[in-house]
Amino acid sequence: MKAWLTEWWRGGTAAIEPATLRDASRLAQLHGASFHRGWGEGEFESMLTERNTLVHRLRIGRNTVGFAVSRMAADEAEILSIAVAESHRGRGLSRNLLLTHLGHLAGRGVRTVFLEVEENNQPARRLYDGAGFAVAGRRERYYREANGEQLNAVLMRRDLS
Ligand SMILES: CC(C)(COP(=O)(O)OP(=O)(O)OC[C@H]1O[C@@H](n2cnc3c(N)ncnc32)[C@H](O)[C@@H]1OP(=O)(O)O)[C@@H](O)C(=O)NCCC(=O)NCCS
Repeated sequence: MKAWLTEWWRGGTAAIEPATLRDASRLAQLHGASFHRGWGEGEFESMLTERNTLVHRLRIGRNTVGFAVSRMAADEAEILSIAVAESHRGRGLSRNLLLTHLGHLAGRGVRTVFLEVEENNQPARRLYDGAGFAVAGRRERYYREANGEQLNAVLMRRDLS
């Protein structure tokens, strides 16, 4: 049976909650599977202990299947990374994760949120468009892929009120 069907059968519901140091290794695993330049467990441990970094985990039943990380400075924040495990993509889970994360940023006094996304990353572009982000700039050849290909980045912004 597919994992998500098993979870549904067991009544597992999605929860979005602050991540703790104990999540570092799972978050590094998820990050490594989603981005070609993965962050290690140590990097997550540092971020989880820094006061200006906000990390949420997306949990279904006992499984952490996604996360969102942002860094705050005064009344601005940058979303550094958001990902959902491949096995759980395409089910709308990222939207709640992002909106909950933004709600917590607003609660910390953040008024403007920025992020960078690869121009052709359609799921991410749709996620951010749908969550009210607008394009604020473009950076040519900003990302370099493992195969040497250079990809453009789009800078996006959303005001929180
Ligand atoms: C980006 C990501 C977090 C989206 O998570 P998700 O839970 O699968 O997303 P959703 O199911 O909520 O779908 C988000 C939007 O993308 C669309 N989408 C999903 N898969 C898609 C695909 N393969 N191609 C095009 N659009 C797609 C959905 O239809 C939805 O748009 P809509 O609301 O306008 O219908 C996930 O794809 C991921 O982890 N990607 C790898 C890491 C990454 O690129 N992170 C973002 C850059 S920081």
